[in-house]
Amino acid sequence: MLKGMSMESLQSPRGFHDIFGEKNERIKKISLALRTKLIERNFQEIILPIVEYAELFQRGVGQLTDIVQKEMFTFSDSKQRLLALRPEGTASAVRAYLQHKLYTKPWVKLFYEGPMFRHERPQLGRYRQFHQLGAEVFGISEPYIDAQLIEILWLLAKELNLEFRLEINSVGCKVCRPDYKLALIEYLHSVKDSLCQDCLKRMDKNPLRVLDCKVQTCQEATKEAPFAINYLCSDCKTHQDGLESALDSLGIDYVINPRLVRGLDYYTRSVFEFVSLKSSLTLMAGGRYDYLVEELGGPKTPAVGFAVGLERLAEELSFEVKEDELILVIAFGDVLDYALKVYKHLCAPNRRVDLIFKPPKKGLEIANKVGARFVALVGQEEKSGSFFTLKDLQTGFQERIELYSLKETKTE
Ligand code: HAM
Repeated sequence: MLKGMSMESLQSPRGFHDIFGEKNERIKKISLALRTKLIERNFQEIILPIVEYAELFQRGVGQLTDIVQKEMFTFSDSKQRLLALRPEGTASAVRAYLQHKLYTKPWVKLFYEGPMFRHERPQLGRYRQFHQLGAEVFGISEPYIDAQLIEILWLLAKELNLEFRLEINSVGCKVCRPDYKLALIEYLHSVKDSLCQDCLKRMDKNPLRVLDCKVQTCQEATKEAPFAINYLCSDCKTHQDGLESALDSLGIDYVINPRLVRGLDYYTRSVFEFVSLKSSLTLMAGGRYDYLVEELGGPKTPAVGFAVGLERLAEELSFEVKEDELILVIAFGDVLDYALKVYKHLCAPNRRVDLIFKPPKKGLEIANKVGARFVALVGQEEKSGSFFTLKDLQTGFQERIELYSLKETKTE
């Protein structure tokens, strides 16, 4: 233990985790698969800052959301401006779009990857620091782009052999939502005796969130509630029909979940979630947010995007991650320079090479412990003869390899 540190400060804080080994390998595999698809479809990566002014999320994600009300990690800078560790990437992407005047381009397709922070109650699949890979498209209003984004996630889910259900819905727009909200609020008042305390608080200001409440009595009480998808104006209806027929022609199966509202306030029209059949957790989610750019001070710009929760996806996967085989160089005696040469010659793509200085017997024990496939023994005899002894620990086969016979050898 470090001198002067308590046991507690040697633990990572609650909800914050080290990601390494198998889980890290899975995350890297998912990330590579999704990045490849995005790059092939003309998306460009943007590295967004982890810290933003808190106001960006207050205005972007919405004052009444759980994220802004309860879950942001905030702190002040030396000028007393409130900063926040980003809870999500969409608001930051919009900020970057505006800051760099990307609206001068006909359309913009961006993706980002990195840690997000939400002060939630930690449990499996819910962390205070987690990682998202997200994509956002600015400047395209037609539903084909919503369908293309969904298709990317669909292809990823199939490639990873996920067991999932794709849910879609429409939450309407400024034209149809006011009437719908009134109808919903009226309904919620008629069943208010069955609603939980949280829902009673939000039913007048943010009534859509009541439909998303996980409390059994609230779910029962809202079974007969009016749903946004039945109140769509003609433009929203045309958009929704367009999305459904695009998904049909792409061969994508979906269900319409009229309760799907999402936990962020910026959505308009299409929303979607890929829900795990194993854990019931939402693995990947997104939707359209046609007003956000304008609300944050930019020109009227349609936009749509998604984010994938990398830990949640990694926890769903059951494939074995195959690591490259390890070759352990075991050097013994006064052979430092020569052992480094052997080590250097063995290092190559798709191969892991490591070096220890130990007597052969001890070295072989260590090689077994660390799961090495091969060992390269390097002692005085090897050094004098310019070779090393390569042993396959799985088969026991052993051979002498002349160092000067290696292709890369230049110095011998
Ligand atoms: P979100 O639904 O809040 O959407 O998060 C997207 C995904 O991030 C979730 O489906 C889940 O996999 C993962 N996630 C969220 N919270 C946690 C947590 N506490 N622990 C582990 N994983 C978590 C957004 O963030 C939107 N920005 C998505 C979007 C992009 N919409 C349009 N563009």
